Amino acid sequence: MKLKDLETPALIIDELVMEENMDHMMAMLEDTRIQLRPHYKTHKSPDLAWLQIEKGAKGITCSKLSEAEDLVKAGIYDILIANQVVQKSKIARLASLAGMCHMTVCVDSEQNIRDLSAAACLAGSVIHCYVELDIGMKRCGVNTFEEFYQLAALLEELPGVSYDGIQAYAGNLAHEYDVDKREAAIEANEERLRQLIAYLDQRGIKNREVSGCSTGSVYMKKYSSVYTELQPGSYIFLDMAYRGMKTAFKNSLYVLATVISAGPDHFVIDAGVKSICPDQGNPGLDGIEFESVSLSEEHTAFYGPHSLKVGDMVKVVPGHCCSTVNLYDEMYLLDGDTVIDRIPVVGRGKAR
Ligand SMILES: Cc1ncc(COP(=O)(O)O)c(C=O)c1O
Repeated sequence: MKLKDLETPALIIDELVMEENMDHMMAMLEDTRIQLRPHYKTHKSPDLAWLQIEKGAKGITCSKLSEAEDLVKAGIYDILIANQVVQKSKIARLASLAGMCHMTVCVDSEQNIRDLSAAACLAGSVIHCYVELDIGMKRCGVNTFEEFYQLAALLEELPGVSYDGIQAYAGNLAHEYDVDKREAAIEANEERLRQLIAYLDQRGIKNREVSGCSTGSVYMKKYSSVYTELQPGSYIFLDMAYRGMKTAFKNSLYVLATVISAGPDHFVIDAGVKSICPDQGNPGLDGIEFESVSLSEEHTAFYGPHSLKVGDMVKVVPGHCCSTVNLYDEMYLLDGDTVIDRIPVVGRGKAR
């Protein structure tokens, strides 16, 4: 099957570019002691998770328990849920899953640790835990070293759980386009983490892992970093939001769409917010600058000079790759303009 035979909108991946992105990431971390634990949130595909492991990733990061269950089903062993799992019924599922794999989860409250410990003891498993430190995102995580120490010490004391390290994800810097500002903030975070490790060490707690990082800051980790494992996701596909970061990675994911209406200064495609997620910005097309872009449910209108006509197919770069993937049941893998595989988006809608 050829690209032109696909019905649109369709989600397509340039296999060569995607694999180059994966290889480039591994090459960047070569000769460092930093390991890769890429985030499943981007592709939501156990097949692509396996490809990342075959290329050298130590394991996979995901966000949700239901995603972790799919990864275990697919035979993946070393899994981090970079999130807190709090509901009692979910903790029971997590404890049973921990009996089948090396399961790590993030924590930032005493009650949650006690609940994890009780469930793991019942299930006869061990739940590995990273205590989350808020390093500026103002999402989850404790704020002070004292709070951090109390939780790490509790993990060392209770049965069924273990203290395995620090979760420190600076999502607030993921799309900081000002390089100086970004690099200064990342350096300040690294220094704070070094101080935390020394603080824990003085109190008898040996730290093992420091986990975090996104696509736009990986290049800095190569030189010197306190991080031991990185969780980037978007680097395999990229999107318009990351284009502004000028990373070394290239776009490999596109929404294939058809031009359904065209005027001299604008054209409209058959894909709107049901097919291209705009949560991190507007979609774009390679090589064309638009004056503005407007999305509605089933349409996107691009305003500006163009030479497209009704019936033309276009390859749209989504504003945000991860949330766009979540809109599709499948992704088509391409070698040039030949469709070579169909990859199910197993994690689509797995929000629990
Ligand atoms: C905890 C965590 N780690 C890693 C990532 C990966 O970030 P990116 O896809 O920007 O590389 C995310 C993205 O939201 C995240 O929430």
